[in-house]
Amino acid sequence: MEETKLKQAKLLTKCIIDSIDGFEFRWELFFKLWFRENGNPLFFLFKKNLSVTNTQYVELFSLLTKHSTSKYEVGKEPKLFFYSTEYIKITFSEVITSLLEDYNPNDTTKILFFSKHYIDIFSSSVVVDMFFGSCAVFLPNGIKTNLKKIVFDSGYIHSAGHSVFIRNINKAKKNDFLNSIDYYLETNLSTKEIPFVIYSHEDFSDYDKDSADLISRGIEQCKIFVEKMSLGSYRLSTIINEMQNSEEYKGRLLFPNPGNFIEQHLFHKEKTLWLISDRSISGGQIKNPGQNRYYICYEQSFVNDSPFFFFDENKPAWKSHTTLPHSLTAALLNTSRQFLGDGRICDPFGGVGTTWFEVKRMQLKNRVHCSDLSAATKILVSDNLYFFTMSVNELTQLVKDLQLCYPTKSLAGQYKFNFNTSNITLDPYTHAFSLIDRLRKEQKDEDQEFELSESFVSELLNLPLLTRFVFYIGLRAQLRFQGGYKRNSIKFEGAFEKSLDKIISQIEMFIKLKQEVEPFIKSTNSLSENSYIKFISKYSFSLTPVIIFKNMKALQEEIELEIFANTDARKLEKASNDLIICDPPYGFNTNEDNSKLSDLYSEFIDKAIASLRPKGQIIMCLPAESYTGRELPYCTRIDLITRQIIYSAHKQGRLAYKPALSFPLGSLSPPYYWESERALRRTILHFCIF
Ligand SMILES: C[S@@+](CC[C@H](N)C(=O)[O-])C[C@H]1O[C@@H](n2cnc3c(N)ncnc32)[C@H](O)[C@@H]1O
Repeated sequence: MEETKLKQAKLLTKCIIDSIDGFEFRWELFFKLWFRENGNPLFFLFKKNLSVTNTQYVELFSLLTKHSTSKYEVGKEPKLFFYSTEYIKITFSEVITSLLEDYNPNDTTKILFFSKHYIDIFSSSVVVDMFFGSCAVFLPNGIKTNLKKIVFDSGYIHSAGHSVFIRNINKAKKNDFLNSIDYYLETNLSTKEIPFVIYSHEDFSDYDKDSADLISRGIEQCKIFVEKMSLGSYRLSTIINEMQNSEEYKGRLLFPNPGNFIEQHLFHKEKTLWLISDRSISGGQIKNPGQNRYYICYEQSFVNDSPFFFFDENKPAWKSHTTLPHSLTAALLNTSRQFLGDGRICDPFGGVGTTWFEVKRMQLKNRVHCSDLSAATKILVSDNLYFFTMSVNELTQLVKDLQLCYPTKSLAGQYKFNFNTSNITLDPYTHAFSLIDRLRKEQKDEDQEFELSESFVSELLNLPLLTRFVFYIGLRAQLRFQGGYKRNSIKFEGAFEKSLDKIISQIEMFIKLKQEVEPFIKSTNSLSENSYIKFISKYSFSLTPVIIFKNMKALQEEIELEIFANTDARKLEKASNDLIICDPPYGFNTNEDNSKLSDLYSEFIDKAIASLRPKGQIIMCLPAESYTGRELPYCTRIDLITRQIIYSAHKQGRLAYKPALSFPLGSLSPPYYWESERALRRTILHFCIF
């Protein structure tokens, strides 16, 4: 046996022996020794909980494998297998208990023999405790993880760090909680004062309205009513008061004053201890929370601060509501990465470039090819790129310009005289309005997505960028408020103003982020190494993508090589791709003919499978249910498409498999789900094709 492996087997032997009380094996003790003290206990808080999607867990397990290394087998990606606490407790306890039948404390050779044989199993078994909106992960001894990369690459991780204390609220006790904090402080190497913050309704809920969309069905549900809660017979607020006044915590923990978090939390710190609460997952329907509530205290070391998520499915350059959210797209890409290597990624229904932006955000080395039938794809991706790489000054000017575009308040309807060209020009709003009006007249039946012809796109290309942005906002107002127009509850001007309000507030958030990061950028040369910039924000290090500070020109060249407009998805080249990730048209969002759509789906599936190289993957987002009453076209039905994929693979002498990942719960295997509150539920297929 190799020296390093033997060392680890000896450590396992010690952990087992130290967990024997009399002749009985104590699981809790073993767990503490092997996973907490000699392993790595981590906690991940998700942006969205299981009522939205289950992809956050799948991507987390994939990223943990991707970004971990083994201390004992240098250079190898470790094999990790994820089990629930209950499962692993039963397996390990039963096995070890059977070892102890004729246990002799003076002769431990039998345990060492066992450890040597099974060290690979113990050192690859990861324990996970899944909660409704978060997850505790206990990595075994020997696994080193690049937590920064996991947090940054992810679509759904809000923040992560060391796990300090997790207890069922009904069973939590004051001493137990304080002991966990003490142990954390003893083992924490930093000498700096760490804020201890309770994510409470009292201090946050009235003041975080700006981020309501971002936190709803996510971290919002992890807030605590601090003034009402207790640990056993002690009020939580009394315990916190005692901690605040105790000499023991002076200079080590910082307790902010109660009240508005914006006013009270004026620090900038490398880490923060948070006390939050989460629910168990349900034994039945995974989309509903379970009965049990937990106190969770964790150290936030890194927070994911990607501006793409502020906009999610509403990037400024926009053409229809079928855009995929950035969070979901990132999660799906990450899920595929375990098997992808440096393979080629293709999104043949690329739309406004969500997949492309996510590949660039993570700076994946994979080649990428995104295409779309729409003539507008390239200009949309390009305008979005321009927007995300604008400087603070340019963005501030953009907000000022947009503020002049409110039709009922501003200069709208006025003409401008351009002295250079001696032209009279329309103001952006009037110009955008006239373009939308033309689309309305040309495509009378269309209330879901206008086709932007090549000549229309050429016209767009010749407009000033501001007018194009205003056109996209107008398009959003036109398509998003269809029901309101038909009911006469809103007029176009009102809908436009709402859309404008929304985008201005999003841009303002983006400006704030850019302003916060800028001082940490020493030079643009220093930007090339990592995919993220790490900077100290209020509660911890924040990770924000380098791409938003990069030179637009270099990236524009990549658009020329990687984004293709006017391209039918059925034109995929044979054996050219390793991942096809796509979101085809659903039919209920456009007034397409169903028979045409079913031709598209059947032909596309054959072509997609032929275009995948061996061990390639296909990830396909499909509609599962429309909450608006719109009927789903039969050809988009998941059971039918699953069969089509399997059949098509067989026909081509290939085999389609679900990717074999180890999940602590069957309901995390594909197909995955994602659902919006109001419009639809998506099902997502994921197959490997051999
Ligand atoms: C559901 S959207 C995908 C949106 C994309 N994921 C995004 O985030 O922007 C479907 C896209 O498929 C495109 N499309 C429709 N028919 C197509 C075809 N035959 N070939 C390629 N693209 C097509 C539409 O123009 C639309 O952009």
